[in-house]
Amino acid sequence: MLIENIVLKDFRNYEYQEISPKKGINIIYGRNAQGKTNILESIFLCSTARSHRTNKDSDLIRTLQKGYLIKIEGKRDDEPFSIDINCTKITSKTNKRIIKVNDISLTRTGQLMGVLNSVMFSPEDLTIIKEGPSERRRFLDILISQINPSYFYALQEYFKILKQKNALLKNIYEGGKNKDLIEIYNQKQAKTGIKIIKERKNFIEQINIKAKQNHYDITKGIENLEIKYECDIVDFSNEENELYKALEKITEKEIKIQSSILGPHRDDIEIILDGMNIKDYGSQGQQRTAILSLKFAEMQIIKEKTGKKPVLLLDDALSELDLLRKRTLLDKIDTKQTFITCTEKRKYMTLDDNINFFYVNKGTVKSV
Ligand SMILES: Nc1ncnc2c1ncn2[C@@H]1O[C@H](COP(=O)(O)OP(=O)(O)OP(=O)(O)O)[C@@H](O)[C@H]1O
Ligand SMILES: [Mg+2]
Repeated sequence: MLIENIVLKDFRNYEYQEISPKKGINIIYGRNAQGKTNILESIFLCSTARSHRTNKDSDLIRTLQKGYLIKIEGKRDDEPFSIDINCTKITSKTNKRIIKVNDISLTRTGQLMGVLNSVMFSPEDLTIIKEGPSERRRFLDILISQINPSYFYALQEYFKILKQKNALLKNIYEGGKNKDLIEIYNQKQAKTGIKIIKERKNFIEQINIKAKQNHYDITKGIENLEIKYECDIVDFSNEENELYKALEKITEKEIKIQSSILGPHRDDIEIILDGMNIKDYGSQGQQRTAILSLKFAEMQIIKEKTGKKPVLLLDDALSELDLLRKRTLLDKIDTKQTFITCTEKRKYMTLDDNINFFYVNKGTVKSV
């Protein structure tokens, strides 16, 4: 996977910018708040259709502008590709996004998955450990979607069903006479829900094996990391039926609180270090290391499943490490192209002869 050109127009703090990254390591440096992370964000967005730090498209549009445009051109193996994301403000709250791959508009966002694979390491990753289950589901969903577009479609479908079911629950609670419809929604929810659960179960088993090994390597065998799936379903032999039966049992409760409370939208991953939940037990350093082990597992899985090395995006991720550790980590990272943001260029100057530097200052990027 290789990115050769990036164009940003009215994206974050960029009015108009072209960047031509190279094969190997691309260091994006500059003072704080100049636009370094914004560049990585634009790449991640073209890869996953999501930002790594916001769910709102309006945050991405340059202040007072009507929309943004990102264009990325590159090569998959030797095959050229281009991705365009064009977002336009419709009202103060709604935006319209058109995504093109090789100049053809996509009819579904899922078609973007797998065109440009990337893995991001960023300070926000710690939220996977520190925050609630939704952050861990997000991590999982982004990873699985990149490899398996049908998972992305199942997620979309599931949330559509959930939205309709919640509206129905509210309606029944307020005296509506359509309680028998719940059964149909439960069936739909169970059918789509189980696709998601199966994929997650399968992936977590793979992540567990890889993250465990990575963590063992990084800590020289001192710490033991485990990733476990926490799901409402326990009997996986007859999943669809089990989820349906469980949904049936709690219908009255769901009506009472006017919300669906069972299914993969409530899943979680447990991250366990030496037998204890890392969230409450792990030190800051242990939590960071666990995240690195997880992220490396993500990279390995993408590479294994797609046969292509993902573009690596390291947002400030190495700045705390000394030169030797940086070197060890960069050696462990086996990619065609890596982007690293940092505030000081000199920390990387002795690392490798083959590094390209980009200086960012107030939303302007210069190759140096
Ligand atoms: N929608 C927007 N319109 C205009 N400017 C924006 C928008 N969103 C963010 N910015 C600006 O972009 C800058 C932050 O960019 P970015 O996060 O890339 O900084 P950075 O160079 O990575 O800094 P740090 O070293 O602190 O991480 C800030 O000045 C912020 O005000
Ligand atoms: Mg930054």
